[in-house]
Amino acid sequence: MIVTGAGGQLGQALLEAYPGARGLTRADWDVSFPPPPGLAADLVLHAAAWTDVDGAEDDPQGAAAVNVGGVQHAAELGAPLVVWSSDYVFDGQKRTPYVESDGPSPLGAYGRTKLHGEAAAGERAWVVRSSWLFGWTSKNFLLTMLRLGAERDEVAVVSDQRGSPTYVGHLAEATKAVTELPYGIYHVAAAGDCTWADFAEAIFEEAGLDCRVRRIAAAEYGARAPRPAYSVLRSERGAPELPHWRDGLRECLQRLATL
Ligand SMILES: NC(=O)c1ccc[n+]([C@@H]2O[C@H](COP(=O)([O-])OP(=O)(O)OC[C@H]3O[C@@H](n4cnc5c(N)ncnc54)[C@H](OP(=O)(O)O)[C@@H]3O)[C@@H](O)[C@H]2O)c1
Repeated sequence: MIVTGAGGQLGQALLEAYPGARGLTRADWDVSFPPPPGLAADLVLHAAAWTDVDGAEDDPQGAAAVNVGGVQHAAELGAPLVVWSSDYVFDGQKRTPYVESDGPSPLGAYGRTKLHGEAAAGERAWVVRSSWLFGWTSKNFLLTMLRLGAERDEVAVVSDQRGSPTYVGHLAEATKAVTELPYGIYHVAAAGDCTWADFAEAIFEEAGLDCRVRRIAAAEYGARAPRPAYSVLRSERGAPELPHWRDGLRECLQRLATL
């Protein structure tokens, strides 16, 4: 079994959930190129991806080389494949959770590459759409808020985007149940939903940080890439249900405390 993107936050969690797996970092295999000769596996957990949402607007072809080409190259290994996709394949117009049969309509370059990557996975693949990932490594909203919350009295956080922050430990464990299901697309995200501002407040509360959240609109924040205003994911296809995002937050903070 192979885990690509082994240096990333989901890759790290997958290596813990699958102790026998072989982790491959970008140094082992740059997935925008075909697989190294002789690489074989009975299952490929493909967590390598271009995840810089704003950066994808500046270099959409670079993002596609990883998120579309990389998935195609992983599929070329010929083994059953798990790939992860994103809530950002949706445009966020709905106000009830997105299910697998809802039509995708990405707002930005990152979402477009993830959608094309889904198609590149081929027929022997589980495509797991998840959202707002956080874990104990790599770059994520939780780690950024913990840093800012320790440095400042107040942070400005977007309050008009709603999703389900998902703990990579829960997502990695749930992968085992996904691979018991038929191949196809599955929505697997934390239970509950919130805005980024709600999530920041919960982080400060749970971590005991004395920092205020100033609620701002996405337009005021001014990120380069447009993001969906609402991207809560739920499954109508029997995908595993994850614990509530707040439980994921507590587990991740406990984990961070041990590092
Ligand atoms: N993060 C989220 O909020 C989120 C939400 C929904 C879905 N997802 C999806 O979940 C999956 C895992 O994301 P994540 O949050 O774990 O991302 P991450 O922490 O950014 O990890 C991605 C990993 O992929 C590696 N990588 C990038 N380009 C590569 C290349 N050309 N060849 C080989 N490795 C490469 C990165 O290595 P370097 O460190 O060397 O760049 C990094 O270790 C991705 O498919 C992502 O699209 C993420």
